[in-house]
Amino acid sequence: MSDIKEKLKTFSQDFNTKLEQYFPLPNGPEKRVVEAMKYSVMNGGKRLRPFLVCETAKLFGVSTYPTAALVSASLEMLHSYSLIHDDLPAMDNDDLRRGKPTCHKAFDEATAILAGDGLLTQAFELLSHKTLNIDANIRCELINLLANAAGAYNGMIAGQMLDIYAETAPKEENNEKLILHIEEMKTGRLIRYACEAGAILGKADMDERLAIVNYARKIGLAFQIADDILDVEGNQELMGKKLQKDEAQGKATFVSIYGLDKAKEIAKDLIKEAKESIAIFGAKAQTLQDLADFIIERQN
Ligand code: IPE
Ligand code: IPE
Ligand code: MG
Ligand code: MG
Ligand code: MG
Repeated sequence: MSDIKEKLKTFSQDFNTKLEQYFPLPNGPEKRVVEAMKYSVMNGGKRLRPFLVCETAKLFGVSTYPTAALVSASLEMLHSYSLIHDDLPAMDNDDLRRGKPTCHKAFDEATAILAGDGLLTQAFELLSHKTLNIDANIRCELINLLANAAGAYNGMIAGQMLDIYAETAPKEENNEKLILHIEEMKTGRLIRYACEAGAILGKADMDERLAIVNYARKIGLAFQIADDILDVEGNQELMGKKLQKDEAQGKATFVSIYGLDKAKEIAKDLIKEAKESIAIFGAKAQTLQDLADFIIERQN
């Protein structure tokens, strides 16, 4: 466990150095939006999704630098955009993110909206850029999959829409099915993309790809269940965001529907299943196995 934390930390340090280079400041006053983008990306995220891309790619012999890291940078930009918008007053209305004032607090609301838009756009610019030296078919598959994972048709945006809808939905609609659907989409889809991107870069065969997708779906859901649990009993300092907000905001979560104990049990079962899903890779997948445990044991 502490080993995986160390690995993730070492990875983040190297990855952050690369990531930072994508935000040169323009000369004019429009540089404010890039400052806000850079502020939100470079403010100490765990880099879990990039790590997943790189570790999955590694299973197939694809090295982290430069290829997997570029794909990861694109995904981290998109993820950071989702956090900026998630924190906006019209959404979850949060003041703290990654231990610092949220983008709209550090800058202003209009700049935060634009910074989110800027990161979403830049994610696709990077993924489609020629410096990412990969086969055109693979590139197109990644672009298409990322767009789908982030989008309004069973993607992250759909999950975010339902998350807001569920706050005021009639009680009978706020059931297990809806909550599962929300969590699989708002968080699960980008985590699944991370793993699938690694498999695509590695030209995984059908069985390998399926194993990776199964793993990713289970850890993706477990990750959001853990986030729901940490909202109730996590340490705010370590989490770097305001906690105990979900209940107050009437959020539909695994904790709201099942209670803490059952939610923990479900998350634990998912992690066990996730680890079984990638058994076909044997010892090569030890880091991904350890990462699965980390998903529910993490304190931040
Ligand atoms: C937070 O994601 C938002 C959720 C999907 C629960 P992370 O917990 O991965 O956030 P960072 O990137 O480490 O800040
Ligand atoms: C966030 O879910 C999911 C996305 C940003 C897409 P939450 O709203 O639970 O995430 P936190 O708790 O604010 O990080
Ligand atoms: Mg939210
Ligand atoms: Mg939120
Ligand atoms: Mg949360």
